[in-house]
Amino acid sequence: RAPGDSAAFDELIARDLRIEPRDDMPDGYRQTLIRQIAQHAHSEIIGMQPEGNWITRAPSLRRKAILIAKVQDEAGHGLYLYSAAETLGVDKAELLDKLHAGKQKYSSIFNYPTLTWADVGAIGWLVDGAAIMNQVPLCRCSYGPYSRAMIRVCKEESFHQRQGFEILWVLARGTDEQKAMAQDAANRWWWPALMMFGPEDSGEAAQQGHTAQNMAWGIKRFSNDDLRQKFVDMTVPQAQKLGVTLPDPDLRWNDERGHWDSGRIDWEEFWRVLKGDGPCNAERMSNRIKAHEDGAWVREAANAYAAKQASRSKE
Ligand code: 3HC
Repeated sequence: RAPGDSAAFDELIARDLRIEPRDDMPDGYRQTLIRQIAQHAHSEIIGMQPEGNWITRAPSLRRKAILIAKVQDEAGHGLYLYSAAETLGVDKAELLDKLHAGKQKYSSIFNYPTLTWADVGAIGWLVDGAAIMNQVPLCRCSYGPYSRAMIRVCKEESFHQRQGFEILWVLARGTDEQKAMAQDAANRWWWPALMMFGPEDSGEAAQQGHTAQNMAWGIKRFSNDDLRQKFVDMTVPQAQKLGVTLPDPDLRWNDERGHWDSGRIDWEEFWRVLKGDGPCNAERMSNRIKAHEDGAWVREAANAYAAKQASRSKE
């Protein structure tokens, strides 16, 4: 593949083959992948905060062990994804600086508070459930390192989703107070989970968005609304099984469409949270920046050790 030969890139995309780091690629392809993979990685590490908040208060040793494992997994997902982003010529440190400076995003869902233990269940069931719906098609993303990272991530996500469903299953069969906790968590997490799939395909957001180009490049395999619809169709029967009522009075099965019709998402809330005005945006960012600063000595020690090893190998 001769350098600068974009025909080679076009042919790989047309044949649905993988683009690898050393392949020539349009700068726009590179940039949109850096943007998306970085934000995906940022979402994973910020996502550790809402659940981490309940590790010391888990109701049993078993739940504590499962939650610790899940939060650790999210950190690992972040590392895979930062490594995938680095194959595109950026440095993880630079991406974290952009996150801390508000120049790169993370998923809006993590700007909502975890008020009760049932929220840990709702996050596993709905947030990881939505993440799986979004991440399974990314296993077939045209960019090789991203698609391979996703295959590993998806295997661990299914455990995340199942343990969340099981937490709510137990609560929904518990005391009246526990039932109410499960219902309250579903009420608060349903709509923000639908927002994880991004803005609507129609309207002005779609014009400025990335969907059309990213679908042409084989990065995005389904539109935002299509994936959201698949998630709703999969989740409504689960809610019925659980015995929780999803907080959408317009939710009804549409025989003609063969899908569940759902009510309008509050897009004003979506864009407000993206602009930084969600319930926990400031707290998440200050915790993140403090953790980064507190970890400076670890990075210095690791760099000093690596430099010493490198000079020893030259002796
Ligand atoms: N939160 C924050 N920003 C969002 C968003 C959300 N829920 N949905 C869309 N956006 C942003 C996009 O980043 C874009 O802004 P930008 O140009 O500044 O990046 C803008 O809104 C327009 O959206 P588009 O749909 O045009 O953008 P994309 O084509 O990038 O699609 C996406 C958005 C579907 C989130 C896509 O980026 C994607 O699939 N990302 C990878 C998956 C991901 O990041 N998931 C986040 C959750 S990770 C997680 O849940 C981990 C689990 O373990 C819990």
